[in-house]
Parts: sequence; C-alpha cells; structure tokens
Amino acid sequence: MAVTGASLVETKKVKTAGREKCMKKLAIGLLFAAGRVSPRGLCAQSPKALPHSAMHAAAQGTLDNLMAAFSAESNSREEALAWAKKADEEGYKKAAQLFRAVAKSEEIHAGFHAGVIKSLGGKPVPEMKTPVVKSTRENLERALQNETMSAEKLYPGFVEQAKADNVKEARMAFGSAIKIYSGRKPLYEAAIKNLKAWKKASRGFMVCTVCGELVEHINFMKCPVCGAAAGKFIRVR
Ligand SMILES: [Fe+2]
Repeated sequence: MAVTGASLVETKKVKTAGREKCMKKLAIGLLFAAGRVSPRGLCAQSPKALPHSAMHAAAQGTLDNLMAAFSAESNSREEALAWAKKADEEGYKKAAQLFRAVAKSEEIHAGFHAGVIKSLGGKPVPEMKTPVVKSTRENLERALQNETMSAEKLYPGFVEQAKADNVKEARMAFGSAIKIYSGRKPLYEAAIKNLKAWKKASRGFMVCTVCGELVEHINFMKCPVCGAAAGKFIRVR
C-alpha cells in the first residue's frame, strides 16, 4: 500500500522522534491508510499487537510476490557465482565475468526488493537452495531460459498484482527487473552462439549500483532502466 497524502500530512504533525519512527512504520499500514484507526491509536499499540493479516491484507498478494522474487534473486546470485567458478574451470573467462556481473546485478536487485518488503512490514528471508552446476553451455542455457521466463511470464503478472494492490514501489521494482532480464538476454545468446570466443577475458561488464542493470559497454549518460548517472555503474570482471 502506498503512503497516502493524508498519511504524510499526519506524519508531519508528529513531533517526537519516537512517534515519528512509529508513524513511519505505520504509515504504510492498511488500517491507517483506510482511516479505520487513528494515528495516535496505532502508535499506542505495539506493532506486534497488530495482526499481520489485517495489516497487509490488501497488499498480501504483492508482498507474497516480493518474497518470491527476493528468494529467486538471492538464489540466482548464488547460482551465478557457482556458474562463474565452473566457467573459470572450463576456461571460459568471459562467461565467468558475465556470471559474476549477473551475481552483482541480482544482489542489487534483491536488495531493492528487500527494501520494499520491509516498507510493507515484511521480513525478507530468502528460501535458499543448493545451486545446480552443469557445463558452462548448459548453465548459460539455463540462465537464458530462467530469465526469459521471468521477464515474459512471471514478473508481468507481479506488475499487474502490484498495480491492483496500488504498491508503486513494487510495481517499479518488478518493472525494472523485466527490463534488466530482457537486456541480459542478448548477452547469453551471444555467449551460447559463440562460446569458444568467450574463452578470452574481456574488460568485464558494467553493473548499475542503483538498479542492477547490466551492460557490456556504456554508451549512454544515464542508466536506461533507473535513470542514474552513468558514473553509478561499476565494472565487474
Ligand atoms: Fe540503474
């Protein structure tokens, strides 16, 4: 649930630091947004006293999707690191660089999702799995398959749910994930098509530290996904 204009006005009226902290947490609550409980009444209660289901009922679908995305991206990070190690062992240095950059990208985007989960009162705890490591070619094909499915099927549904729940931050997070996954697709396809050439190390890949966008070369002034300055990108080798 997005913070409403009314809730922000109420928040400004609160003077003490303790109450401000309380208001910040509660402003995103549905009870407050719905006006069913006064700000003062909510602050008087321990957050634990508020039933989670009541607090987030209308945004529960989006919260569930955020948790699923957070787990998937946390696992993707570990998987990419394991695949990078395998690529190095097989001598595909550029593929290893790509996987390390993907791991950094997933780490940044998972952090983005974790922030939105916290803003909705959830606790971002990923459900981790042991990475499955095959040959580098198979790992690249798996990465391409997973990310294509996420960009074309899974995340568009998450965006629609976030729109329905009116959680702007989640809609933006899922939307940027779609752009990032779609942008990585040509890199995986190039590696699969000409894997032999990917034995030679490159200068590495550039990752936006704000949103996780991943590119091979910077030919823009601002990140095409989040609009951050090009200087916010870091090189991952
Ligand atoms: Fe970005």
